[in-house]
Amino acid sequence: MTSQIIPVEAFDYVVFGGTGDLAERKLIPALFRRYADGQILAQSRIIGAARGEMDHEEYRSFARNALKTHIKEAELDADKINAFMEMLFYCSIDAKSDKGWPELKSILGDEDRVRAYYLAVGPAIFGDIADRLHSNGLIRERSRLVIEKPIGKDLASAHALNEVVGKHFREDQIFRIDHYLGKETVQNLMALRFANTLFQPVWNASYIDHVQITVAEDLGVEGRGNYYDTSGAIRDMVQNHLLQLLCLVAMEPPASTDANAVRDEKLKVLRSLKPIDAESVDAKTVRGQYKAGAAKGNPVPAYLDEVDDKQSDTETFVAIKAEIETWRWAGVPFYLRTGKRLSSRVSEIIVQFKPVPHNIFGDDAKSIKANRLIIRLQPDEGVKQGITIKDPGPGGMRLREVDLDMSFAENFDVHAPDAYERLLLDVIRGNQTLFMRRDEVEAAWKWIDPLIAGWADTNQKTAKYTAGTWGPTSSIALIERDGRTWHDGEA
Ligand code: BG6
Repeated sequence: MTSQIIPVEAFDYVVFGGTGDLAERKLIPALFRRYADGQILAQSRIIGAARGEMDHEEYRSFARNALKTHIKEAELDADKINAFMEMLFYCSIDAKSDKGWPELKSILGDEDRVRAYYLAVGPAIFGDIADRLHSNGLIRERSRLVIEKPIGKDLASAHALNEVVGKHFREDQIFRIDHYLGKETVQNLMALRFANTLFQPVWNASYIDHVQITVAEDLGVEGRGNYYDTSGAIRDMVQNHLLQLLCLVAMEPPASTDANAVRDEKLKVLRSLKPIDAESVDAKTVRGQYKAGAAKGNPVPAYLDEVDDKQSDTETFVAIKAEIETWRWAGVPFYLRTGKRLSSRVSEIIVQFKPVPHNIFGDDAKSIKANRLIIRLQPDEGVKQGITIKDPGPGGMRLREVDLDMSFAENFDVHAPDAYERLLLDVIRGNQTLFMRRDEVEAAWKWIDPLIAGWADTNQKTAKYTAGTWGPTSSIALIERDGRTWHDGEA
């Protein structure tokens, strides 16, 4: 099945941090893929901007290597690579001085096209770059700014960062990336909920027992230990990715897919989260940190061996029982769980329905299971709806659960694009639906801040777990206390 590719208008993408890790692993490969698919016109330009000295040709070889390393050989067509290289330029620039700014201005020229400034750099220099873009006259009506998490480390610093970029860019020019929103299955969650009549009537506390959101990684901190050590799983994953997923599951139907219609609904969810503070933090959260263990059969080191601070108590795992105080969700816990060095890499949302109100099948129905909807983000993207049927054949009314299984890879002959492919072009299209609005980011911190403060006030230490397991046993107790169990990605 092929869909029609509509190219976006010719644009200029300026990537600050153009020689960094994000540009190499994600941005350049994503732009190449979209180009190779015919979605980017050859007149477009991608300008890497960074402090190092390099000419355009050297930047092109950097990009060639990025493609070779991060894209499968079968997708690498030599002619397309050569043509893509023609679109790449480099500008050596310093965020903190005037160096390079006139050169950037002359590369950009005067044509009225969409200009996207992607800040793939640390937040400490967001303000310097925005100021210099402004003072050099580089911000125009059709200019956009793209920033990545971490957007602050608490409400105050997020607010300050938003102020700094908001000084020169209007909110409708600012694209705050949460790459989880660009994942194919996350968008499918919207389709599932709002393009089917089936789910909407039962999508509430009368029919849903609880929701689980798990984002498990088998990797450790992979050389990012010192950044991660200042952040931990709560800031790195929960404040953004997990809360965004929770919002998409819990929000009321927006009136349209218009960016503000969707973001208004997500914001209401964030503002309805029941606060977790020093009083409730022990009962509702678990922090963990991995010890040495094994991953895919090989020994792997402890977290503390991967960071400088050998006394660090930063959490690499967190589990939370979140509650949403609305009519729709009263009494329906949302169990969130994320961690590094867990048993496998799996991200999924489980919507667990309530059991049938009355069992008419008597003893034969021992195996009657409450319905369960599994939305698998990765790997093996897809949706599974568990339903109970009669076991075929003679032998009485035996019941069993089967899955209505919609594995995307098996059912559709298309490769699921990387989240960045979608998001980078949404910036050019000016579509902010899959980006976080300022008030959403700040509302998320408003809920996270007291939780983190609660950990400090109660001196809640991390529970150590062996790398390659499902996290500390206390996280199992967190859900089992409520008579429920984690779905450990076995289906
Ligand atoms: C990033 C986090 O935002 O998301 C990383 O900073 C994490 O720590 C990554 O590994 C996970 O993303 P994905 O797409 O691989 O699930």
